[in-house]
Amino acid sequence: MSKLKELNFPKDFIDKFICGNTVDVMKQIPDQSVDLVVTSPPYNLKNSTGNGMKDGRGGKWSNAALVNGYSNYNDNIPHDEYVAWQRDSLAEMLRIIPEDGAIFYNHKWRVQAGLLQDRHDIVSGFPVRQIIIWKRKGGINFNPGYFLPTYEVIYLIAKPKFELAKKANAYGDVWEFGQESKNKHPAPFPEDLIERIISSTNSHIILDPFMGSGTTAIVAKKLNREFIGIDVSPEYCQMAQERLKNPSSIVRSKSQKMEINQVSLFDMLEVK
Ligand SMILES: C[S@@+](CC[C@H](N)C(=O)[O-])C[C@H]1O[C@@H](n2cnc3c(N)ncnc32)[C@H](O)[C@@H]1O
Repeated sequence: MSKLKELNFPKDFIDKFICGNTVDVMKQIPDQSVDLVVTSPPYNLKNSTGNGMKDGRGGKWSNAALVNGYSNYNDNIPHDEYVAWQRDSLAEMLRIIPEDGAIFYNHKWRVQAGLLQDRHDIVSGFPVRQIIIWKRKGGINFNPGYFLPTYEVIYLIAKPKFELAKKANAYGDVWEFGQESKNKHPAPFPEDLIERIISSTNSHIILDPFMGSGTTAIVAKKLNREFIGIDVSPEYCQMAQERLKNPSSIVRSKSQKMEINQVSLFDMLEVK
């Protein structure tokens, strides 16, 4: 990876997509200078005991977009390394939010070797205030050993003075939003989920340190907020930049739809 150039805050950050390794980029952001973080990291899905995604072989889902991985990251590192990396990322996110700031950190629990792998090892020791259940449409998983998973989680990790916007508390902690299926990125957020999160806060500057196709940025601008987006992939940075100018540029064309029978990340579970 090429060395990251020195960046100045706020000039090089506000309303910008920054292409680079997220921990390195976040280290250049001063303490307490971002109000809110909204993000979904890579889930390390290819490091799996199931054969569905293992080593990119694809199993039954050889047509799935994620079998090809992200454009600049293979989503397959040893579990301990993955946990350490995510904890480093969360530590940076926590450093750069103020005393009334918060992090919405989306992740997925899964079954590994017949046992639930929750993500406690990643979030343990961080100030997790609440777990929001994001109920999605059912995935594709024929494992007879457990019920079809239908949700992901969003950890609300908050500093002591964080408060929701007026009336947002009434949304409750189980949210139902269908997955995004038209986006060219292999694992995009649905815009309405991000709108729920951002509009539930009074934050002004919003960071997504694993920004992908830029959904957090698009919604931040729609709600008259400012954003900072970071992604390691130049292809996704460009995708996000174009999307900001032209929202429909993100939609997969008919030919791409025929090429990629996209099964979302969520559907990639233990397939045995
Ligand atoms: C789950 S996707 C995020 C998708 C995004 N929420 C959206 O709506 O499009 C995770 C992203 O993390 C990026 N990524 C992987 N490793 C990274 C790293 N070291 N630094 C920054 N971004 C990274 C991948 O390129 C991928 O786009």
